Amino acid sequence: MFSFKHLLSPDQVTKADVEKVFELADRFAETADHGSNKELDGKVLGALFFEPSTRTRLSTETAMLRQGGSVINVIGMESSSLKKGESLQDTARMVSNFADIIAMRHPDVGSVEEFAKGSLVPVINCGDGAGDHPTQALLDMYTIYKKYGRLDGLKIALVGDLKFGRTVHSLIKLLAFYQVELILISPEALKMPEKYEEWLKEKGVNYKVVSDLEANLQDVDVGYITRVQQERFDDQAEYMRLKDSYIINRALMERVAPNSMLMHPLPRLDEIAVDCDDWEGAYYFKQVKNGVAVRMAIIFGLLNS
Ligand code: CP
Repeated sequence: MFSFKHLLSPDQVTKADVEKVFELADRFAETADHGSNKELDGKVLGALFFEPSTRTRLSTETAMLRQGGSVINVIGMESSSLKKGESLQDTARMVSNFADIIAMRHPDVGSVEEFAKGSLVPVINCGDGAGDHPTQALLDMYTIYKKYGRLDGLKIALVGDLKFGRTVHSLIKLLAFYQVELILISPEALKMPEKYEEWLKEKGVNYKVVSDLEANLQDVDVGYITRVQQERFDDQAEYMRLKDSYIINRALMERVAPNSMLMHPLPRLDEIAVDCDDWEGAYYFKQVKNGVAVRMAIIFGLLNS
């Protein structure tokens, strides 16, 4: 069904995989909205979240429960034997005895990939530090696809913390399957790391790097805003200097991109004013809703690959 055994990074995902996720998410959308089926009856999801999460954990667990499966979980480093020094690979080997599939979030880049080496069952990366967040990227792609019916030809601005924001690191790699125009808007200190720019160049993606918000948000199809990731800063004074680099309000969106989608992986702080929430272009709560169907698709697909 999918070309990958574990979903660790967008690098393993093909365009056919993305489209399979869309197809399955369409199939599960009705069930995702407070319904249930028995597709995964008897299967167990291990949810290991060693870093805070509201949406990803709850929607992943919901995705399992709505398909008739069940969930076991470990929340926080303190309550696991990682705290006693057990390795990630040993932890994975142990949890594989209990769960048929594992979803994991961890603060260190590369940790979920390391964990997966010891796992006997499929592993889903639900966020590894400032690395990747592939399930978020897939639900973002699905949300855009549902609005426009296509991804080709879209002008997409990614705004804010492009250095530490793992959702945008994963998203650009999936968007690169399509003929999109990317506008990377950030302060100099929060630019997309060089390795991602090199990758975009290698793939021949049409992109530009800029810092002025208003001029570059003009007439975009999608404005995707990210929170400045306080938890990744060693210097909190630097965080305070950068945290309000861009504030988007409804007047700005109506002036520069009135027909666009305004997206955010959430949680938001002040970067999107609450006066945007009932604007018809606000899609950030729809992203959360789509997250259940997309994660149902991913879990179902991995367990049937
Ligand atoms: N978008 C996202 O990853 O949210 P959580 O941190 O609440 O899971």
